[in-house]
Amino acid sequence: MFSFQPYGQQWRDRRRAFWQEFNPEHGRINHRPVQLQYARDLIRRLYESPLDFDIHARHMIAAAILTITYGLDIQEKGDPNIAMADKALKHLDVAFIGTYMVDVLPFLRNLPRWMPGAGFQTTGESSRHDLRLMVELPYAKARKLLQEGRGESSFIHRALSRRHITDGGKEERDIMETAATAYLGASETSLFSVVLFFAAMAQNPDVQAKAQQELDQHLDHRLPDFDDQPHLPYTFAVMLETLRWQPIAPLGVPHSLVSDDEYKGYYLPNGSIVFYNIWAILRDEAMFPEPDTFNPSRFLKDGEINTQLRDRVMTTFGFGRRICPGRYYALDGLWISMVSILSVFTIGKATNGCGHPIDIDLEYTADLNSLLPFVVLEVITFGVIVISVALLFGIGTVILVHLTYTYRSKRSQFAHDFVYIGVS
Ligand code: HEM
Repeated sequence: MFSFQPYGQQWRDRRRAFWQEFNPEHGRINHRPVQLQYARDLIRRLYESPLDFDIHARHMIAAAILTITYGLDIQEKGDPNIAMADKALKHLDVAFIGTYMVDVLPFLRNLPRWMPGAGFQTTGESSRHDLRLMVELPYAKARKLLQEGRGESSFIHRALSRRHITDGGKEERDIMETAATAYLGASETSLFSVVLFFAAMAQNPDVQAKAQQELDQHLDHRLPDFDDQPHLPYTFAVMLETLRWQPIAPLGVPHSLVSDDEYKGYYLPNGSIVFYNIWAILRDEAMFPEPDTFNPSRFLKDGEINTQLRDRVMTTFGFGRRICPGRYYALDGLWISMVSILSVFTIGKATNGCGHPIDIDLEYTADLNSLLPFVVLEVITFGVIVISVALLFGIGTVILVHLTYTYRSKRSQFAHDFVYIGVS
């Protein structure tokens, strides 16, 4: 998959195919309707079982990207395509950059596999099968759909027809692998940002109320869609602040220099590995005063989005020619889920056995990769929280969110408390 490939012709071919699909103009026409459909579906699912909110968010994200990429019909529950992709993704979580120092210190590849810490070698072998399935099986299903005259609104169809590819060969393999990269890139990143949005709303009821006021005034008792975006600057600012406040990849993805370079007088030879610190960039007090405060209003100037600050937040998607090519898709998905949720639900902190709100304990470590699995651990019944399983996983991000959902038009009938823990 090209996100793991070094710079070169194959990476360029695959990246071009990806961008032809995920550029913003194309996304507006081909992706937004699907994202809207699954954001609405999320609302229904949240209404039916709010305690399963992480499962619903996962489903929304996975179903949208699989529909767009392969044209598959996603099942209401327990979809086998999602299950298979998630299984493969888990392997990548384990092997992904930052988890094993081998990515940063390649000489570790030569360690014998019995040595402590060299487990990445065996993980690599056992995961190969699942990863191959993830790449090949949905693709085969998409091809079958096309033979039956269906699935013509998929990336696979568009990419194959653009290049007049019929069967086999390198070009078809490029399309197949590029398609799998879409699921890989979209799933954990998007889930993390939706979860952080929940946490931000529960912690900042004033912000939430202001966003809902903007929605209520503009929408007048209907659900939002993408045409409403220009009329909702404050909710757009809430999204930017969510991405700024807790960047999901605080140290981005390391880049390897392809030529000698210099930075502030430091000589950096070709092949050096360079990390960028998104966390620090988005907490630069000169641009973002009181950076720990969740304050969407910082993005508004005369009622409009301040484009200079918006562009600074886009650094959360990386830099240069490796910048995230799914960024416009990601923004659309996050925005439409946020506004759909806020127009129907109010998110609040859970209360303990005595009825007092439980503080949200949001810890975020400067790990290289926070795009790792989430676990719902426990429903709070007596204000008792168990996080030991989370801590067993050791390093990384622990997100602990206690939330109350209130269905906005039936507040008294619909309140649930739960604890949600994400671990990496
Ligand atoms: C909030 C959501 C997301 C964030 C914060 C994010 C962030 C990032 C970052 C930091 C990188 C590395 C950039 C660099 O090397 O400088 C990256 C790469 C990538 N992202 Fe995203 N991403 C998000 C969503 C998505 C989505 C939805 C997709 C797919 C539709 C996607 C696909 C990719 C791909 C394919 C790459 C590898 C690019 C390459 O190596 O050329 N991402 N992303």
